[in-house]
Amino acid sequence: MINKTKFNLPEVYSTLEETLETAEKILTAAVDDAKTLFHTPVVSSLYNNQITSRVMVLREFCLEDRKMRFHTDHRAAKIDHFNEISTASVIGYDPELKIQIKLQGNISAHYDDEITRSAWDQSTSRSKKCYSVKGGSSKEITNPEDYDIKDFEVEEGYKNFSVLVFNFYSLEFLYLKSSGHRRAVHKWDDKYQSTWLVP
Ligand SMILES: Cc1cc2nc3c(=O)[nH]c(=O)nc-3n(C[C@H](O)[C@H](O)[C@H](O)COP(=O)(O)O)c2cc1C
Repeated sequence: MINKTKFNLPEVYSTLEETLETAEKILTAAVDDAKTLFHTPVVSSLYNNQITSRVMVLREFCLEDRKMRFHTDHRAAKIDHFNEISTASVIGYDPELKIQIKLQGNISAHYDDEITRSAWDQSTSRSKKCYSVKGGSSKEITNPEDYDIKDFEVEEGYKNFSVLVFNFYSLEFLYLKSSGHRRAVHKWDDKYQSTWLVP
């Protein structure tokens, strides 16, 4: 769990820099800490005029490169979504910290390239196992037990493995506190700009 004291997070946000620094601390820690709620943010795509959202594990965060990395099954529906319309939104909220972080950007799907190979090589056998499920994500089936992963060769899963790279151009920080809510947006368009918003 991300601890407010351990991360030295402010009780009151008085500068825009503090909001971005806090978002960076939270999201960086969330990559390795499965207990923080930001470890599993909601990732949304747009397809056929419909928004689809799903929880995904955050595998990498880099503010400098304005990048997040997610892993998925190459047969998943969202691959088609992002290949057609790359626009994406990522959001998370931690009630203990009282902080919501919302990012807007674009997702590119990678398959069997340097990025997927490096991500696969860094993955644990436990993570790799998911990609050995037969049939592929979202296929309609009658008996789920037939799809329990039993006999598998862990490296075989690589052929079903994809990496989603999210490049964000906007990060919104919302801190809900009865003494005074704080909402800030950071944007990287032609140049970096940030401002407070009415919460
Ligand atoms: C805690 C949790 C973590 C998840 N992590 C991932 C993940 O890292 N990658 C992924 O593709 N799906 C993950 N899922 C499953 C997705 O939420 C979703 O059900 C699945 O990917 C199918 O989505 P799609 O049909 O939109 O492609 C996770 C679900 C939960 C509840």
